[in-house]
Amino acid sequence: MNKVTVLGSLNVDTILRFKRFPKPGETLPLTGKSIAGGGKGANQAIAAARSGAQTTFIGKVGQDQEGTFMVHQLTDSGVDDRYVLHSDAANTGSAFILLDSSSENRILIDGGTNQQVTPTDVEAAKEAIVDSDFLIAQFETPLDAIVRGFEIARAAKKRTILNPAPATKAVPTDLLAVTDLIVPNETETETLTGVHVTDEYSMIKGAEKLQALGVENVIITVGSKGAFWMRGTDHGFVPAYKVHAVDTTAAGDTFIGALSAVLRADFSNLSEAVRLANRASSLAVQRLGAQPSIPTKAEIEAAERI
Ligand code: RIB
Ligand code: NA
Repeated sequence: MNKVTVLGSLNVDTILRFKRFPKPGETLPLTGKSIAGGGKGANQAIAAARSGAQTTFIGKVGQDQEGTFMVHQLTDSGVDDRYVLHSDAANTGSAFILLDSSSENRILIDGGTNQQVTPTDVEAAKEAIVDSDFLIAQFETPLDAIVRGFEIARAAKKRTILNPAPATKAVPTDLLAVTDLIVPNETETETLTGVHVTDEYSMIKGAEKLQALGVENVIITVGSKGAFWMRGTDHGFVPAYKVHAVDTTAAGDTFIGALSAVLRADFSNLSEAVRLANRASSLAVQRLGAQPSIPTKAEIEAAERI
């Protein structure tokens, strides 16, 4: 069983559903409103745990009801919350997910306590990091904290996985130097490398650019199409399972969490791990909400048998 530590965000997601966006000055009714656990970090941790990994979370919530709710989302799925700090300096993070009838989402975020995770907080969780096979991080918590975590993992010869999401600018080279596997989507790949991802040729080019920056293993996720992987000079494209998507929120997070539960520490089974991760995310997109949609190992195995 893999041991996985996730350093990242926790958000209470408010999901607003409507037929179309209102025009300026226009008022429209919602077709649905719901609340669910979210945040890229917490989603990835829950996906890893539900896929069978022994999972620990490093992050920060506020001293509010939302913080209590988010910690319960983690522990209900078996994630160890020992390194989740409670701070009164801000509110727990929240996200507003706008879903029109195209089922493509737009997200607005209030980072809250996620923005206050410090390198010192991460150092306090050293024991969990050095005891894990993988440390995973995303960009909804501060960069200096992530760099510190990855340095600790690397010093203990543990593997680091970076999901550069959301990506707003190039990733600092000191972070890439301590990253073993990077998992951007197509738009993040373009932000990081300048390569516009359209076909397999452009995926190879984008992945090679990331390798040149110091990351040996690359996975580029391309939504409903599937995922491209590169390990050294080996590479391949694994098509996605064809399903009817109702909400793609947390599809990428489910992919990464499920991947980390089955990946070997030497990355030798990257292609097969990508296929299983595709299977997990194909289940997540068929259900509404981030954390409620993340499948369990039993659900993934049942889908594998069909
Ligand atoms: O990746 C999906 C997540 O992004 C949502 O759960 C939302 O909270 C935002 O962080
Ligand atoms: Na979903």
